Amino acid sequence: MKKLFALVCAAVMAMSLLVAAADAPAFTTIEPGKLLISTSPDFPPFESTDDNDNIVGIEPEIMALVAEKLGLEIEYVPMDFTSALAAAQTGKTDVVMSGVTASGETGESRRLMFDFTVTYVSITQAIVYKAGSPVTMDDLGNVTVGVQRGTTGQIYVEDAYGEANVVGYDTYSLAFQALQNGQIDCIVVDDMVAKAYVERIPGLEMTQTTFEPEDFAFGVYKQDTGLCDAMNWALQELIEDGTVQAIIDKYNTAE
Ligand code: ARG
Repeated sequence: MKKLFALVCAAVMAMSLLVAAADAPAFTTIEPGKLLISTSPDFPPFESTDDNDNIVGIEPEIMALVAEKLGLEIEYVPMDFTSALAAAQTGKTDVVMSGVTASGETGESRRLMFDFTVTYVSITQAIVYKAGSPVTMDDLGNVTVGVQRGTTGQIYVEDAYGEANVVGYDTYSLAFQALQNGQIDCIVVDDMVAKAYVERIPGLEMTQTTFEPEDFAFGVYKQDTGLCDAMNWALQELIEDGTVQAIIDKYNTAE
């Protein structure tokens, strides 16, 4: 009986230790209890809008789990990519969720604007063109290239080939309309996103580039004390237990 009591005590202590370890680090947000998130929802499978104007995709699914762990309610504020980055810099939002590249030189300069959580996925830029009019990496200097303003796609193409033949759009939706209308020859965009558009729009094809691979993270308003650590605490768990990979695989299975 004594032994059993001791065992139960040990079990209870172990459990309370676990609970203590699972407590999120303390943090603040702009509006208590809320996570304001700026996003450019033209970026399937990471974020896009469904028929009811809900923001859906890999990142909203991850963010819902993070917010739940931190006891926060999410409010999305949709805008173009450049504005979404700026919003998390100036404290209009707590977080920018937009497939934001956190690696390389671009990542370093964005780190001056906001803090980055841990990265959770890697991509490389790809080229999307009309079937029958292929564009390869070697052609990029001689054709008209559509990009979304402020993205690594724009930065890499302009650094390598100059600005003359690059056309910037506020959203990828507009860039893809221009490609379909024949106003541009190709679009340079993150490969998982290229694949999603090629699957959605008939008559488009894609090929990889040899630009450096990029890692995505969420950008966090620097004056939200402890929020980045708290999000990392939640994200780390979701990465380690395979949840994040399962969400990515769910959206990225079709060939
Ligand atoms: N990964 C690229 C970058 O950080 C493109 C991101 C565009 N995101 C979006 N939601 N439209 O520059």
